[in-house]
Formats: sequence, C-alpha cells, structure tokens
Amino acid sequence: MILVTGGAGFIGANFILDWLAQTGEGVVTLDKLTYAGNLHNLDRLQGDARHVFVHGDIADRALLERLLAEHQPRAIVHFAAESHVDRSIHGPEDFIQTNVVGTFRLLEAARQYWQALPAPEKEAFRFLHVSTDEVYGTLSPTDPAFTEQHNTLPNSPYSASKAASDHLVRAWHHTYGLPVLTTNCSNNYGPLQFPEKLIPLVIVNALAGKDLPIYGDGQQVRDWLYVGDHCGAIRRVLEAGRPGETYNIGGHNEMTNLRIVQGICALLGELRPRADGRPYASQITHVKDRPGHDRRYAIDAGKIERELGWRPAETFDTGIRKTVQWYLDHPEWVAQVQSGAYREWVAQQYATA
Ligand code: NAD
Ligand code: TYD
Repeated sequence: MILVTGGAGFIGANFILDWLAQTGEGVVTLDKLTYAGNLHNLDRLQGDARHVFVHGDIADRALLERLLAEHQPRAIVHFAAESHVDRSIHGPEDFIQTNVVGTFRLLEAARQYWQALPAPEKEAFRFLHVSTDEVYGTLSPTDPAFTEQHNTLPNSPYSASKAASDHLVRAWHHTYGLPVLTTNCSNNYGPLQFPEKLIPLVIVNALAGKDLPIYGDGQQVRDWLYVGDHCGAIRRVLEAGRPGETYNIGGHNEMTNLRIVQGICALLGELRPRADGRPYASQITHVKDRPGHDRRYAIDAGKIERELGWRPAETFDTGIRKTVQWYLDHPEWVAQVQSGAYREWVAQQYATA
C-alpha cells in the first residue's frame, strides 16, 4: 500500500479516489483536517477496506514512525501543505510549520523507515513530493515557460515555503540517497476545490449573487490543469520517474484571470441562467491587487511528455465544463465547507478591497 499525506484536501482526495479506481492498491491517508481538509471528500470510501484514514499532523514524528511501522508502505505521496497564497500573506507561520518543518519531519521518518527496509523493498521505495510551479517565481509575457532547470525564485510566503520543502527533498536524496521524486505542477482546478481559490470562488459567488473579485487588472496569467490530469501525472511519475528527478506538470493552457472569470460566467449563463436574465459577468468587480502578485506562470511539460509519455487528457473547455457542472450538482458540499471559520476569512480578506 501507499501512504498519502493531505488526502482530505482538494488534490489529495481526487488522487486517492482515482488511485483506488485505477490501481486498486490500498491507501493510508494522514491528514490534520485543517480548514481545507474535509473528510466528506472521501465519503465514497466509507466501508472500503482498502482505505485507512488517520487524523494527524505530518510534523508528529512519533505518529509517523508508528504509521510507517504498522502499514509498511511501498511509497509516500506527500500532498499535505498550507496551500493558499492569500492566507500565507496574512499569516505565514502555519506555512513554515507545515510546509517546511512538517516536510522535514516526514523526510526524517521516511529515511529511518527506508534505511531499515530489506534490499528489494528498499530499492523499490519512493517518496513523491508534490510541489508547485510557483517556486520558480514570475515570468514576463515573452519569457519562455518554466523548465526544470529554471532557478527557484519564490515571491510569496507560500511559494517560499514550498521551495524550501523542495530543497529539503532534494538534499535528502543527494545526502542520504532517499529515492525521492518531485513534481512541480501549475494551477489545478476541478471538483472538491475549496472555494477560496479563484475558480471555485467565482462559481460559488456567482451562484450566490455575490461580487466576483478580480485582483488588480486581471491580466495575470496562470497555466491551468484539470485535477484529474495532475493525478494521472503523479501516478505516472511514481511508476516510472527516475529517483532524484524533478518533473514539471502543466496543461499548455495559459489564460488571464479575467478570461477565466468571463468564461465561467458564460458557462453558468448557459447551464444555470440568472433568474433576472442578466449576465453573471455583471457581478465582476475589480478589487485591490494581491501584494507581490506574480504576473505570469507557464509550465514547459516537455520532460514528462518525452520521458514518461504523459499528456493531459482534458482541454480547458472540457475540464471547466465538468468542474462547473460538479459545483452545480453539489450545493450541499459547498454549503458544508462554508463553515463559520471560512466566512470569517472571507470577511477579513475582502474587507479592505
Ligand atoms: P488543500 O489546501 O486543498 O489541501 C491540503 C490538505 O493538507 C488538507 O486536507 C489539510 O487538512 C492537509 N494538511 C495541512 N496541514 C497538514 C499537516 N500539518 N499535517 C497533515 N495534513 C495537513 O491543498 P491542495 O490544493 O489539494 O494542494 C495539495 C498539494 O499540491 C500542496 O502541497 C500544494 O502545494 C500542491 N499544489 C497545489 C496546486 C493547486 O493548484 N491547488 C498546484 C500545484 C501544487
Ligand atoms: P489562486 O486560485 O489563489 O491561485 P494562485 O495564487 O496559487 O495562483 O489565484 C489564481 C489567480 O487568481 C491569481 O493570479 C490571483 C487571482 N485571484 C483573483 O483575482 N481574485 C480572487 O478572489 C482570488 C482568490 C484569486
């Protein structure tokens, strides 16, 4: 079986559901259940003996040692992180604690476990670290997309903490020989994404008749990938990636934030028109820009395509349609994640906008 950290979050939950459907191999999920972790994301696995959920912190070394000894995983897939840039600006401490200290503790526990494995299991063991394109910093409109050779130049507390974790993972390979794999992926979207990130926030706010906040001029560019394609890429890297290597993952799909929001408005207009017949785009409002806002991210996914034969299956048009439809079909999920704590965050984030 494999150990998945952060499996109650957006990408982790999608990964586990896909993994069990595709491979049937057992999963132990370790998740602290922060505001972003939601056990309902894994409801479909209730009663499924192939899945074990453990509530706990990746920074808890004693717990990690117990889990590894008990379940003897052949791999660790590490998603657990604080993941929202805006939250990292308001409160960076949790980002350093989980993304840096937590990853360090996980690496140490993994190293101790791996070193004691018998030869064939030791050879086959993998530690896959899930990271982001944001560690590379920002691009001008004409710069080539990020390759794995690009310097690490993070600009936000979130991306700095992820870059720090990438460096630790790299060092644990070079110094101790731990068989690590690192993936740096572009912005994901899809079912189960917490409605604080741009795409689900816009869908949820649009349906609730609320403002659709665009930071600054909305001309910032992100390279969007459907979450199912990210999960497929991680499975492929785990299966065939070379230890010590980094793989960029992206969808060849650069779009400005404004275009993304306008596109969602148009789709909602088609699938669930507003009662008053007015366009959803009338809810768009430009608000104060994010401090230090990176202007453009773009991923060159040539290495994973050439070496591992991975390519995204979804286009943005097919992926965003599935995503909008999923949110339309799951109002109870949205209502349930919009807890009191979440509403307080929204009030704080957009109060001075
Ligand atoms: P998320 O915020 O939705 O989920 C994070 C999960 O980690 C939650 O379930 C949370 O409870 C858990 N967690 C947080 N701190 C923990 C701790 N100390 N111990 C155990 N569990 C803890 O994040 P996501 O969007 O699913 O991202 C998952 C990973 O993918 C992150 O490492 C992120 O940096 C990376 N990533 C995300 C994107 C994206 O667009 N969302 C893109 C590239 C890479
Ligand atoms: P986000 O989903 O937070 O991802 P990231 O910051 O990791 O790229 O934001 C995506 C883009 O959308 C980013 O350029 C910031 C912008 N954005 C808005 O314009 N308004 C919003 O309310 C949010 C949450 C993001």
